Amino acid sequence: MQDKIKKIRIQSASEINLAENSKQLENFRIKYLGRRGEVTLLLKDLAKLSPKQRPQIGKLINDLKKEIDSSIKTRNEEIKLKSAEDGEGDWIDLTMPGVKLPEGHLHPTTAAIQEITEIFSKIGYTRERYPEVETDWYAFEGLNMPKDHPARDEWETFFFSPKIVLTPHTSSGQLREMEKGKLPIRMINISKCYRRQSDVSHTPMFYQFEGLHIDKNISIANLKGTIDYFIKEFFSGKREFRLRPFHFRFTEPSFEIDITCDICQGKGVLENGQKCRLCKEGWLELGGAGMVHPNVLKAGKIDPKKYSGFAFGWGVERVLMMKPGMNIDDIRMIYKNDLRFLEQF
Ligand code: PHE
Repeated sequence: MQDKIKKIRIQSASEINLAENSKQLENFRIKYLGRRGEVTLLLKDLAKLSPKQRPQIGKLINDLKKEIDSSIKTRNEEIKLKSAEDGEGDWIDLTMPGVKLPEGHLHPTTAAIQEITEIFSKIGYTRERYPEVETDWYAFEGLNMPKDHPARDEWETFFFSPKIVLTPHTSSGQLREMEKGKLPIRMINISKCYRRQSDVSHTPMFYQFEGLHIDKNISIANLKGTIDYFIKEFFSGKREFRLRPFHFRFTEPSFEIDITCDICQGKGVLENGQKCRLCKEGWLELGGAGMVHPNVLKAGKIDPKKYSGFAFGWGVERVLMMKPGMNIDDIRMIYKNDLRFLEQF
């Protein structure tokens, strides 16, 4: 029996060392260690030995088993290493392009907010964010809208309590900015606003961006220049705008800004002679603007005799819809989370 063990040891060692691939090695493993392998059969023969001999021979067979097992593993490593060096088998081409992971993108509103922020930062405006839950003072009273004033009705407000509201416009940030006590002011407040409205051009939650510029000698000319710059940048040049007299309690004089409609090119009629469905008369309303009312400056502890300023507040989703080629005919689509819509951006 000992001779047999010796013979298998020598034979297996040389065979394994000469193996050239993992397939051959596997065959050797089966030949020696498989269920009917030579070493396995030796173990079965143990039973035929005397109880005295058994432990000694058994140990020899077990050692052989371990030896064969480990030399198969060693040889396997050698083969793998060699084939990698030769550029065969499992190799990696580091110059091959990788597998692309599915990639998302920004929501169109977020992208518009970033664009607006960037446009205004180029002319010195700092992006601010003011609270969504606001007190009556900042949302209304401090903006020259005393309690029970009918003008308040225009901001279809959500109330938490008589004094706490979900801010219905970003103008509530005007006084908060003035209270910082730093002049001049050039801020762009982009925040969520809430109103009890839902139709093709309104969502109960929307974003506004509010520009506020306060300094010495600020006039309507500065307001017009700023609007002109924004419209050229955001709508890529080809749109005209107009200031239409309006009334807000917190600006005097006040305007609404209209821009020419992209669908009918400001004509009000389409090429087929039909009235433009979107604007009807060639102009689209962008939002409000005006010169900051002296009472509001006073509420913000700024002397209206020394300083003046302008403000404008427009909807982010509104201006986004007016971009050339957007073709969004229902503002609510923007927040429906429908991937078929969102993936188009
Ligand atoms: N806050 C006004 C609105 O929500 C817009 C506005 C802002 C008007 C600033 C004038 C000045 O309609």
